[in-house]
Amino acid sequence: MSGVVTVIESSGAEHGIGIEDDGQTLARAIWLSGVVPPPALCSGLGRCGACRVRFRRGTPEPCGADAAILGADAVRDGWRLACRHRPAPGMVVELPPPPSENRKRNVFAADGGPFRLAVDVGTTSVHWRLLDGAGADAASGQSLNPQMGAGSDVVSRLAAARTPEGRRRLQGLVLRLLHRLVSGFGVPVEELCVAGNTAMTAILLDEDVSGLAAAPYRLPEAGGRTVTWPGLPPAWIPPQPAPFVGGDISAGMAALLYGETPVFPFVLADLGTNGEFVLALDAERSFVASVPLGPSLEGIGLRYGGVADTGSVSAFTLGPLGLSASVIGGGAPIRICGTGYLSLIDVLLRAGFLDATGRLQERPTSPLAARLVRSVERGASGWSLPLPGGMALAGADVEEILKVKAAFSLALESLLDAAGLESRSLARVALGGALGEYVPGGALENLGFLPQGLRARTVAAGNTSLRGAALLLERPELRERLTRWSARCGLVDLTARPGFTELYMRHMVFG
Ligand code: FES
Repeated sequence: MSGVVTVIESSGAEHGIGIEDDGQTLARAIWLSGVVPPPALCSGLGRCGACRVRFRRGTPEPCGADAAILGADAVRDGWRLACRHRPAPGMVVELPPPPSENRKRNVFAADGGPFRLAVDVGTTSVHWRLLDGAGADAASGQSLNPQMGAGSDVVSRLAAARTPEGRRRLQGLVLRLLHRLVSGFGVPVEELCVAGNTAMTAILLDEDVSGLAAAPYRLPEAGGRTVTWPGLPPAWIPPQPAPFVGGDISAGMAALLYGETPVFPFVLADLGTNGEFVLALDAERSFVASVPLGPSLEGIGLRYGGVADTGSVSAFTLGPLGLSASVIGGGAPIRICGTGYLSLIDVLLRAGFLDATGRLQERPTSPLAARLVRSVERGASGWSLPLPGGMALAGADVEEILKVKAAFSLALESLLDAAGLESRSLARVALGGALGEYVPGGALENLGFLPQGLRARTVAAGNTSLRGAALLLERPELRERLTRWSARCGLVDLTARPGFTELYMRHMVFG
């Protein structure tokens, strides 16, 4: 079967999208077409509801997930989860408003060049900074990675890139974004530095990704070189130390090693759908490790999760009147970012509402917790705690965060073991990636992500990868030094640790 599905954007713009009989879902057909920007999807897990579309023609029978996520009224109104249905010729669907794109534009000085563009291509988001001749930001912005239609985690992205056609389709989506950026500034851009994790980099360079898809893992691209894409300025790709420790991490280390005065030993933890860790013993010697975290720290895949943006809850407090939320930019809460979930679970653990394994306390120890327990709703998919703004915390959300905690604390412990260090000898833990902007105070220590006593030495490092990419454009002489650093990194392979499963289970507790 092949044919066309008509997609109507909230602006009223209509597009015909070609479909093939290749078993893909309606969500993939729409958001991998490159015609409309994708929302933050949960990889078709049927949990986020971000793939909802309203059928005007060809409405399929609803499935269980449609009603569970969207509600009976919406289903009656023609709304369905596009990840749960197949496309068929003649279907006409309406899309909800697209995700916002943040773009900041400064006024250019007439003689401000040469201009260079630093780009951090994350699995979820793409961040960029246009630098003028003095190294200052001439413009900056971010948007969701246009490949999100293939799913929000690295595994689903690699699955979509396993054939040459699939890989080129994903590559084309990001190259189109780069073209749009470069041609939209109104000034010539001389050079790019594109820092991404190993999967994003391999896809961008159209390299075979099979070495990243199954053990024993192999690095498809060592980086540390200049590439050219048709119609774009030359792009420098930072070196990649290990199969899942990529150019985003080495660029981040450039920022920490050469962009400031480092105090050793320190840890850089870059938290995205993959957790990538570096333990730097000195300027030359480092251990690196990586661990899949899933997209939940980026708020994706959780029932009310979303990226940290205006309207996202970044912290919760519990008082006599119940739970209250701090919202980025003020106003009503519309979603919860990863930091907000960490803060919420911390509050609920300390109140005695949850136990260390993330389950509801049978006998809550405080009156506030007892009141929360009374408000809990129970259904076929488990318990759910109502939150401000009509949102809710599901038991399954807590479980997702607990898995992230186990992976995170195990990775950190393994790095310290490999170096023969104790956590108290660390001078600093720099957090980048999803938590880089909004580090939830003591929550990381209370929840057991970090060993006790590290709270005061933990800093929000912001987007180290983008900062490093900018530095490598400004000071190209650092590139060779960084490539040497990358080649000398020692990889700590977590899964090769004896008793890995038992170790992981031992870390599956909060606190
Ligand atoms: S519910 Fe469909 S992608 Fe998340």
